[in-house]
Amino acid sequence: MLIVLPLLLLCCGVGTVHSTTVHENSKDFLSLLEFKRGISDPKGALGNWINSTHICRWNGVKCTTTPPLRVMNVTLTGQSLAGTISPSLGNLTFLNHLDLSSNALVGTIPPLGHLKQLKNLFLNNNNLSGTIPDALANCSDLSLLDFSTNFLVGSIPPKLGLLSNLEYLNLGTNQLEGSIPDAFGQLVDLRSLLLETNRLSGEIPDAIFRLSSLQYLGLGYNMLRMALPPNMGDHFPNLVQLGLQSNFFEGPIPASIGNAIGLEAIDLSFNNFTGQIPSFGKLSNLSYLNLQHNDLVARGNESWEFLNALGN
Ligand SMILES: *[C@@H]1O[C@H](CO)[C@@H](O)[C@H](O)[C@H]1NC(C)=O
Ligand SMILES: *[C@@H]1O[C@H](CO)[C@@H](O)[C@H](O)[C@H]1NC(C)=O
Ligand SMILES: *[C@@H]1O[C@H](CO)[C@@H](O)[C@H](O)[C@H]1NC(C)=O
Ligand SMILES: *[C@@H]1O[C@H](CO)[C@@H](O)[C@H](O)[C@H]1NC(C)=O
Ligand SMILES: *[C@@H]1O[C@H](CO)[C@@H](O)[C@H](O)[C@H]1NC(C)=O
Ligand SMILES: *[C@@H]1O[C@H](CO)[C@@H](O)[C@H](O)[C@H]1NC(C)=O
Ligand SMILES: *[C@@H]1O[C@H](CO)[C@@H](O)[C@H](O)[C@H]1NC(C)=O
Ligand SMILES: *[C@@H]1O[C@H](CO)[C@@H](O)[C@H](O)[C@H]1NC(C)=O
Repeated sequence: MLIVLPLLLLCCGVGTVHSTTVHENSKDFLSLLEFKRGISDPKGALGNWINSTHICRWNGVKCTTTPPLRVMNVTLTGQSLAGTISPSLGNLTFLNHLDLSSNALVGTIPPLGHLKQLKNLFLNNNNLSGTIPDALANCSDLSLLDFSTNFLVGSIPPKLGLLSNLEYLNLGTNQLEGSIPDAFGQLVDLRSLLLETNRLSGEIPDAIFRLSSLQYLGLGYNMLRMALPPNMGDHFPNLVQLGLQSNFFEGPIPASIGNAIGLEAIDLSFNNFTGQIPSFGKLSNLSYLNLQHNDLVARGNESWEFLNALGN
C-alpha cells in the first residue's frame, strides 16, 4: 500500500496533497472547506471532501485540466444538502459552473461578484431567501442564471440588464415584486425570460417586446397590467412559448401573435383580454392554446374563423 499509493498518484497527476503542503490552489481548498462547514450533508455527498483527498477529486468538483489546477465546476444537485451557502464560494475565481440546485439550502445568495468567469449559476429549487444581489451584475460572463423556486423577495435588480451574455434567465416561483426592469431590453441574446409565479406588477417594458432572440417568454401568474402592443408578434420570429396567463392583461389579443410562426404554446388564460380571437392559422406547430377566462367574444361567422384556421 505504501508503495502503490504514491505511484498511482504520480500516474494520474492529481493526487493526495495534504493541506499543509503548499499548492497552487490552497485558496480554492480553503474556500470549499469553508463551504462544507456551513452545510449539513445527510447523504454524505461531501464524504470525500477531506484534507487527504485532492480537491480536484472531491465529489462534484472539476478543475482546470492544466496547472495551476483551479476549481472550474462545482455540481451538487439533488444531494439533500441543507444549511447556508458560504460567501467563501465567491473566492473560487476560476469557477465557470456552479450548480447547487434541488437541495434544501437556506439563507441568502452569497456575494459572487468576483467570479468573472462564471457562466452558469443554478441555485433553483432550494429555500433561499433575501434579495437578488446587485453584485451579480459583475459576473459579466453569466449566460445561464436560474434562481427559480426559492423564497426570494424584493425587486429584480435593474443591473442584471448589464449581463450582456445572458441567454437564460429564470427567476420564476419566488416572491419578487416591483416591475420588470427596462434594462432587460439590453439583453439582446436572451432566449428564455422566465419570471412566472411572482408578484410582479406594472407594465412589460417596451424594450422587452423588441428582444427578437426570445424563444420562451414566461410571465404567467403575476400582477402585470397593460394592453399588449398590436405589433408584438412581428418582433418575435423565434418565439416558441408565450405564457401570460393569470395576470391583468387587457385590450385585444394582438393579431400579430399569429405571425410568430414558431409558436408551439400560447397561454393567455385568466386575464382581461377583450374583443375577438385573431386567426392563428399560420402557426403550424401550435399544439397548446389556452384563452379561457377572458372577456373574448365571437359574433357572426367570421368571428369563428380562428377555429377553422386552427384546423391547419
Ligand atoms: C484540514 O485542513 C484545514 C485547513 O488547513 C485545517 O484547518 C483542518 O484542521 C484540517 N482537518 C484535519 C482533519 O486535518
Ligand atoms: C460541470 O459538471 C457537470 C456534472 O459533471 C456537467 O454536467 C456540466 O456540463 C459541467 N459544466 C461545465 C461548464 O463544465
Ligand atoms: C476570500 O479570500 C481572501 C483572500 O484570500 C480572504 O481574506 C477572505 O477571507 C476570503 N473570503 C471568504 C468569504 O472566504
Ligand atoms: C423548505 O421549504 C419547504 C416548503 O415551504 C418546507 O417544507 C421545508 O421544510 C423547507 N426546508 C428547509 C430546510 O427549510
Ligand atoms: C465589481 O467589479 C469591480 C471591478 O472589477 C470591483 O471593483 C468591485 O469590487 C466588484 N463588486 C463586487 C460587489 O463584486
Ligand atoms: C416546427 O417544428 C419543426 C420540428 O421541431 C421545426 O423543424 C420547424 O422549423 C417548425 N416550424 C416553424 C414554422 O417554426
Ligand atoms: C379580470 O379577469 C379576472 C380573472 O379572469 C376576473 O376575475 C375579473 O373579474 C376581470 N376584471 C374585469 C374588470 O374584467
Ligand atoms: C353562417 O354559416 C352558416 C353555415 O355555413 C350559414 O348557413 C349562415 O348563413 C352563415 N351566417 C352568416 C350571417 O353568414
